[in-house]
Amino acid sequence: MSKVVIPQEAIERLRAARAIVALTGAGISAESGIPTFRAPVTGLWSQYRVEDFATPGAWRRNSALVWSWYSHRRRLAYRAQPNPAHLALAELERRTPNMIVVTQNVDGLHQRAGSRTVIELHGSLFRFRCADDDTAVAWEDHDIDNAEALERLERGELEAPPVCPQCGAQVRPDIVWFEEPMPRKPWGAAANAAQACDVCLVIGTSALVYPAASLPQLAKASGAYLIEINPEATDLTRRANWSAQARAGVALPELLRALESSAG
Ligand code: OAD
Repeated sequence: MSKVVIPQEAIERLRAARAIVALTGAGISAESGIPTFRAPVTGLWSQYRVEDFATPGAWRRNSALVWSWYSHRRRLAYRAQPNPAHLALAELERRTPNMIVVTQNVDGLHQRAGSRTVIELHGSLFRFRCADDDTAVAWEDHDIDNAEALERLERGELEAPPVCPQCGAQVRPDIVWFEEPMPRKPWGAAANAAQACDVCLVIGTSALVYPAASLPQLAKASGAYLIEINPEATDLTRRANWSAQARAGVALPELLRALESSAG
């Protein structure tokens, strides 16, 4: 396992930080067994076309296909466990006066790892809304822990979306699809936090999808120290004050250990 060389300045900035924002993407959940989007071969967008699964048009054309795909992903996320990277971020929050995780992920693993302040920019696999008027719908996935139901989905058998108890329209996952605007409230909170933070950690994201990808730039322009953790280089790498080219499940626990051993 590679040892991450952590610059002293990164440790000092983190130790002194009153406010930290961690922007996370699919890479932080990769070590929990959840596929990323853009990896060649295994990435979701290497296997499924965005326009067939993650746009309003896809839902209009074949809501059962879209619903079933998200059901499949929801059940896989439910079975996955938070990994050392999620746990290290939760621990960092406990030792930082003001820390916010801004995630593009919809898998709920940050909350399950113990992070308390989490902004889900792209929604959640575990929330639902009426496809007609967007009101929240409390729908319980009774098959969430049912291996047979997961196998049926893996064989390609489709599930019909449930119906809204208020109006009878279809229920959709509360996910932000391509071509849809980012909801104003979480975006405003994330942008404010980015502008006010002392350190911005960017973990496991290709930083290609906007507006999320603009948050690190906003943080840096407002004076934050920018740290990237990603085994591969991204457009952000050259702008980061420190770029750890390592897996999050290795780099974040090491960062935490370095902070602990330098404390006091
Ligand atoms: P991507 O699949 O675009 O990028 C994942 C990143 O994680 C890549 O840069 C990898 O190098 C990195 N990575 C892989 N394994 C890692 C590990 N163990 N530790 C750290 N990093 C690792 O996923 P996102 O950037 O999250 O939106 O994609 C952004 C958005 O595009 C998603 O939220 C999704 C997608 O379309 C919607 O569905 C709305």
